[in-house]
Amino acid sequence: YVIGIDLGTSAVKGLLVNQDGEVVQEVSKSYPLIQNAFGHSEQDPEEWVEKTLAALSGLVEVSGVNPEDIEGISFSGQMHGLVLLDEKGQLLRKAILWNDTRTTEQCKAINDRLGNRLVDWTKNIALEGFTLPKLIWVKENEPDIFAQAARFLLPKDYLRFRMTGVLNSEYSDAAGTLMLNVTEKQWSTEICRHFDIPVDLCPPLVESHHCVGTLLPEIASRTGLRDSTKVFAGGADNACGAIGAGILSEGNTLCSIGTSGVILSCEERKDRDFRGKVHFFNHAKENAYYAMGVTLSAGFSLRWFKDTFAGGESFEEFLQGVDRVPVGANGLLFTPYLAGERTPHADSAIRGSFIGMDASHKREDFVRAVMEGITFSLNESIEILRQEGKSISTVVSIGGGAKNPCWLQMQADIFNATVVGLKNEQGPGMGAAMLAAMGCGWFGSLEECAEQFVQPAAEFTPKPENVRKYKELFAIYQ
Ligand code: XUL
Repeated sequence: YVIGIDLGTSAVKGLLVNQDGEVVQEVSKSYPLIQNAFGHSEQDPEEWVEKTLAALSGLVEVSGVNPEDIEGISFSGQMHGLVLLDEKGQLLRKAILWNDTRTTEQCKAINDRLGNRLVDWTKNIALEGFTLPKLIWVKENEPDIFAQAARFLLPKDYLRFRMTGVLNSEYSDAAGTLMLNVTEKQWSTEICRHFDIPVDLCPPLVESHHCVGTLLPEIASRTGLRDSTKVFAGGADNACGAIGAGILSEGNTLCSIGTSGVILSCEERKDRDFRGKVHFFNHAKENAYYAMGVTLSAGFSLRWFKDTFAGGESFEEFLQGVDRVPVGANGLLFTPYLAGERTPHADSAIRGSFIGMDASHKREDFVRAVMEGITFSLNESIEILRQEGKSISTVVSIGGGAKNPCWLQMQADIFNATVVGLKNEQGPGMGAAMLAAMGCGWFGSLEECAEQFVQPAAEFTPKPENVRKYKELFAIYQ
């Protein structure tokens, strides 16, 4: 067996997976966001560790699997979050997360100062979510803390550090810091120099399937696992989500709708240049890359609408009837910018809207409009990729957005591509488990592993009449 841990924004999820790729046990433990000031979003890394230990002991206890048979463990996690440690490896403050928007000023300063050179070095532009602006914010606003900082880590790298005592990062998460020279796979000394950040703050880098060590004896005794269990580096949640969906070669494209939503397309050439219109990061597959557009409030928009207007209903109850509402939600249009947007607007101050409200509209029209608005927003990323020459005819869909057949058909019709769902889809935790499986030597490559672990399910083909209507509506949306 191997274990894949996904350190998400609302919960940590652990999967115990056998050699056939079947999930034999799954445990999830949630934790809160700390939002003490406008735009701030933090979490306590100590809580990540406690909840992960609880998830690991849960997996061992409930599954009844002999811990001797659990060979390896690996990690996926929310990207970009800043964890700061002093020279003894102690936490200096709470983690500042990917969805924190306090750094608009720092982003402007980075973009103004470096201009095109930033994209040349990192392949990306400065956005509030990324790690470098957060580091500069701490330097400017909490100089005493910054002065004590000896290392920064990304969320899942901190977790792995606490499990093994070994401190490092890997390329797929490092790419989201805006401090990595993505194509040279090295920390950018130029960027550190420009912003007066000691390059020693950056952790050593390894490949995602690399074995960094074994579990510390105290972690083994707290979880019931063996201290000989091998620990593999793992990857960013989007990279691991892609691996878990078999997105491993040129042009394979993913739509993932969770809290945020992404359109991600695998790239084998590192010289592809999107000039920051979409993110360009290292994949967790060695020497592969991906281009990615992000809708910040995807599933979050639907949850917001449900919690605000539909009280305690389950998602299933809440979505009842949307399939009977015609394409275009009877003239109601929604833009999902509840907390700013990344692609294509790159604007943390932009806000959402309902347009075209009419006295005849019912609740299900609003629900359908929200789903369509989220999907239009993701389609803006698909359109950018197509304009840059990518051919996208099939999209694998995962996450909450893949659980509802009406939404899957809507994705096919709006993206004008065949949309494929997966059997027993498990998200990024499965990608982490696959990295551990490859690291343990079960497979010679991630592709071989995917053949065994990733199984396509239903296919949704675009309906020409709907494609035509959505094209018109998309123009209005834009
Ligand atoms: C990607 C991003 C989010 C987080 C969510 O750039 O910020 O998708 O990784 O966990």
